Amino acid sequence: MIIAPSILTADLSNLAESCQQAIDAGLDRLHLDVMDGNFVPNMTFGPPVIKSLRESLSKDIIFDAHLMISNAEECYMDYVNAGCDHISVHVEAVTHLHRLVTAIRDAGATVGVVLNPSTSIESITEILPDLDLVLIMSVNPGFGGQSFISSVEGKIRRLKSLIDNQVANGGRPVQIQIDGGIKAHNIAMVGEWGVSNCVVGSGLFNDRGTIKENLQILHTALEV
Ligand code: DX5
Ligand code: ZN
Repeated sequence: MIIAPSILTADLSNLAESCQQAIDAGLDRLHLDVMDGNFVPNMTFGPPVIKSLRESLSKDIIFDAHLMISNAEECYMDYVNAGCDHISVHVEAVTHLHRLVTAIRDAGATVGVVLNPSTSIESITEILPDLDLVLIMSVNPGFGGQSFISSVEGKIRRLKSLIDNQVANGGRPVQIQIDGGIKAHNIAMVGEWGVSNCVVGSGLFNDRGTIKENLQILHTALEV
């Protein structure tokens, strides 16, 4: 199970240090929750902050950008140029999705599509062969620390069988990533549904323990 730490809940006043603590704890990527205050009712950071993090952190760290923005079609290159290795865009916020997915891949990043809790996977069946990842939101986007929406189980299981079928027919393997409310009590369960990549924010960045301690709790939950 890949664990992608969402830095939304990190100490944003000391961001590089918080990110370095996640890296020192053994994590190999950062989940960058980009919010524009328009597509979602919250605003976080954009290309300048990401570029600065890229320059201060190890080049080996995967920058996984989750674009919760209304103008991804216009500005995706800013995120590639800032140093993002992966870019996920919301199907609800993009008009010409095939064009954008193709453009992100042509720019050299891997590419994913994000589905909000009420968005069906039927909206991405045509684009699935072109994706590296599908991100299933298990909270409504905009904030960390929200409650897990367990009704996404059916959607994830259906998506997993679509992907298995695609691979069986020689198609591209596609990672299923889940985002929102993932903690020790449910991380193994979503793995059984077919998830192989979990975004974790407040489960890692909290005042109950260090990132290393919190990560160990998640690893222990995955071993049982
Ligand atoms: C919400 C973000 C998530 C969130 C996860 O819009 O996309 O990545 O930060 O935080 P937790 O794990 O606390 O739900
Ligand atoms: Zn996210």
